[in-house]
Amino acid sequence: MKLRVDLLPHGNYPDVVLVIDALRATTTAVAYLERGAQALLLTSTPEVALALRGTRENLLLAGERGGLPIPGFDFGNSPAEAGTQNFAGKTVVMNTTNGTGAAHVAAQSGKHVLLAALTNAHAAARRARALASEGIAIVCAGTDGRVGLEDVYTAGVLAEYLLAMGDFTLDDGARIALTVRRGGGDPAEALSGSDHGLHLATLGLAEDVQLAAGLSTSTVVPTLERGEDVPEGTL
Ligand code: MLT
Repeated sequence: MKLRVDLLPHGNYPDVVLVIDALRATTTAVAYLERGAQALLLTSTPEVALALRGTRENLLLAGERGGLPIPGFDFGNSPAEAGTQNFAGKTVVMNTTNGTGAAHVAAQSGKHVLLAALTNAHAAARRARALASEGIAIVCAGTDGRVGLEDVYTAGVLAEYLLAMGDFTLDDGARIALTVRRGGGDPAEALSGSDHGLHLATLGLAEDVQLAAGLSTSTVVPTLERGEDVPEGTL
């Protein structure tokens, strides 16, 4: 089975896609579900998210631009913030600069789209292996169209787990991700030393980076289902 890593989203995916935005959208998505959220809705724009307000009960809006909360939203995109809240019974609508967009690209052709981070890496790899028949693509969201070390490192962790679960033929992206993982130090070093990790620290969000480095601390694997009763631009 083929295992490929896209260092940035580009589409045309096999049946299983693992979408990574380790700093921070997929880490935060895992945190919301860990804190009891019953569902996540990922929108293509903040406007679609705001338009959802009032369309159903127990809806909360969460997201960021430039790492800071979007005006009019209930939360930013912080796993540390999520860890202080009880989301039981809530549906969290997410829109972020890169992560939710990468999920939308994946949903265009991927049959099974899973959100992956370091925090759920082993569980996400296990679920992907169980679902895959054609192949697995690991998609790095990056930041503002640039490759993100944190995502490539996370892809390398996922690739290592998958290689321990079965035989895969690798593409260059997977080979690069494995090299980055094996030479990148421990998760906290890799994430805190990345461009976006350093940017988040300047915003006073270093705790998010540390939380995002928690290797396989969760078994929650957010899995996209094409919503029937949601507007265009929502997953
Ligand atoms: C994103 O989705 O672009 C990132 O998670 C940005 C962030 O929350 O810092």
